[in-house]
Amino acid sequence: MSVLEQKAAALYGEKKYPEALDIYLSLYQKSPKTEKYSIFCGNCFDAMGDPEQAIAFYKKAHKLNPVSATSLIALANVYYNKGDFKNSEKFSRRILKSFPDNASALLNLGNIAYCKNDFETALAYYETVYNNNHSSYIAVINMANTCYDLMRYVKALEYARRALKLYPSSVDAYIIRGNSYLELGRYQKAERCLLAAMDLRNDNPWIYTSLSRLYQKIESWDKALQAGWNAVLFAGEALEDQHINFGYLLYECADEKGPEMVEDYALRWKNHFADSKKVCYMADALLQDKLIKKADAEYVKKIFDTFAPDFDDTLATLEYQVPEYLAQVTADTFQKEFFKTTRYLDLGCGTGLCAQAVKPFIGWCDVTGVDLSEKMLNEAKKKYVYDSLINDDVVNFLQNCEQKYHLITAGDVLTYFGDLKLLFEKISKILAPRGMFIFSVSENVYDTADYFLTPSGRFAHSGDYILKLLKISGLNKLYMERKPLRNEGDHVVYGYIFAAEKIVEIEKA
Ligand SMILES: C[S@@+](CC[C@H](N)C(=O)[O-])C[C@H]1O[C@@H](n2cnc3c(N)ncnc32)[C@H](O)[C@@H]1O
Repeated sequence: MSVLEQKAAALYGEKKYPEALDIYLSLYQKSPKTEKYSIFCGNCFDAMGDPEQAIAFYKKAHKLNPVSATSLIALANVYYNKGDFKNSEKFSRRILKSFPDNASALLNLGNIAYCKNDFETALAYYETVYNNNHSSYIAVINMANTCYDLMRYVKALEYARRALKLYPSSVDAYIIRGNSYLELGRYQKAERCLLAAMDLRNDNPWIYTSLSRLYQKIESWDKALQAGWNAVLFAGEALEDQHINFGYLLYECADEKGPEMVEDYALRWKNHFADSKKVCYMADALLQDKLIKKADAEYVKKIFDTFAPDFDDTLATLEYQVPEYLAQVTADTFQKEFFKTTRYLDLGCGTGLCAQAVKPFIGWCDVTGVDLSEKMLNEAKKKYVYDSLINDDVVNFLQNCEQKYHLITAGDVLTYFGDLKLLFEKISKILAPRGMFIFSVSENVYDTADYFLTPSGRFAHSGDYILKLLKISGLNKLYMERKPLRNEGDHVVYGYIFAAEKIVEIEKA
């Protein structure tokens, strides 16, 4: 190695990438046919966060030496890090053609499968690497993690144990062991593993989240709250999932032990993260702030984006019945006009459960769904129920809507609004004469006010408030029935199903 090369390598080792790049570029210019200089330039660009330049140099290196795996591995990795799985897979497979056991290509294919939630395929790739080389820590820790995702907790424990043999200070291995024991109900062992992870790394929010889950399971609420609080402190504002987890923890604690138990944490949380609208909304709900009139849109979007892939299954386990009620009321009350297409609008359509249930009862139709959450809309698309799906806040949509609809439904959506006056006015405005509005609300069993923001961040409404609003919005109530809507924890959430018709104004002579 020349003196210049040694200097560049030292700078690269010290993470002084721009300085190292200067030297490698000069070496490359002097000797453009030397493969390694193109690779080094690519590595520097990659480390400096410029994948396009890195790719250009790796491709040059590949042209100079097409039989070498080095440039292909670098290309597969850089495309993977860019999230371009198609190209990453292409280069990984090309490596395997010449080098079928290449660990880097196999791990890369495993990681791509993992990112696509294809855990079985991912596990098979990791196992191939591990079976070829029992000292591959990366293969065995990935096997442990993937087994955990596959809910094979005993296997996850075993693989994490092997990972610890190879790398005794592996925080990840201790976390996987802790979480696996937790799932298996072996709480003392879970705590031991998680505390061992914390001894190695005391600023990792995920360790605190796991500890908080553990303490919640054994109903040690004080410790659960303290661990949850540490999780959000170490996460900072950017790690939103941690805040959502903490919100759920506070809500569940308030539900079990009463709102006083979480007040102090909710206040601290709100003060500490005063710039986060989501945090403020969740904290305000826990503090039962009477001034809040609508759920924060960012918060709604975040929770439903996260929830979307599991929404239908979870709601089935909660015995969610609103779509069927809306469908039944539609069948009983909606009178479609002959030879006319029913224009049907589903507000807060989510994954499409309501439109799917209602559509068989309205004849020829043109169905529009509106929702804040893009991921919920992606799920709705798969049901082939809607003619158009619009990603918008319903208030914004209604404000700009010039179309008239014969039927509007809103299943379990008004629960994200407290004050419904404006919404009802707008809905009435876009209903065709005798058009119908069929919807659900949760029942306010908490106080005597028109609506109440519950600690879960959802609003509950009084039936009288809805009746009053229908009247002043020019809507005639045709149906109102109190019903069990779904389960929450160990209790049933009751609410009302309403059907109202747009009053036809008769012009005076
Ligand atoms: C509980 S889900 C109900 C979904 C569907 N209607 C059903 O019954 O299965 C509530 C849906 O309302 C949406 N949502 C809540 N507030 C909204 C708003 N202001 N604008 C648009 N969509 C909203 C959420 O994104 C979520 O998809």
